[in-house]
Amino acid sequence: MRALEMQVNGDPVETAAPDHWTLLEVLRYRLGLTGSKQGCDKGDCGACTVLVDGKPVLSCLTLAAHAAGHEVCTIEGLAPAQLRRDGARLDPIQDAFDRCGALQCGFCQPGMMLSARALVRDEPNPSREQIRAALSGNLCRCTGYTQIVHAVETAIAESVGAPPPTAAWEPELAADRAARGASASVEEGA
Ligand code: FES
Ligand code: FES
Repeated sequence: MRALEMQVNGDPVETAAPDHWTLLEVLRYRLGLTGSKQGCDKGDCGACTVLVDGKPVLSCLTLAAHAAGHEVCTIEGLAPAQLRRDGARLDPIQDAFDRCGALQCGFCQPGMMLSARALVRDEPNPSREQIRAALSGNLCRCTGYTQIVHAVETAIAESVGAPPPTAAWEPELAADRAARGASASVEEGA
């Protein structure tokens, strides 16, 4: 058993876990922070993404011992951090995902939003290609990614007081809605 001290979502945390435990296991099974998802558990899906010192890492591939002494941010920490900054209820990325309907089952969302948060912090005005590249390690089995990239671009536009890019996205969003409607009809008829 190894003693571990780290900052998690702004609070100092002391815990202990077996040497081989990953950061994901410590977050979920020692600290009860189940927002970080245990998807593939082998580095393929990105559902376990958290920020360590502001950088996105796959917590299922990171030994907890390697996070000791560092600052860890999970999805549970995004809204409280925003509250502390300016009193808003949600982080702008979370808020945009919510308003843009960028989710269905939600399993990918914690990792997706943390990857987007890290991107926007390092590159406040990323191109669409940079957004897609930053999210390329986060797999979503539900949305087809259209609303997700739209949400990130919306948050970025709003952060500089620009109008949200909804009109420019409308053809893609409409095609996406039609495709999902078609697949829903097939499932209903099955
Ligand atoms: S659970 Fe970590 S990458 Fe899938
Ligand atoms: S919303 Fe279901 S996996 Fe992305």
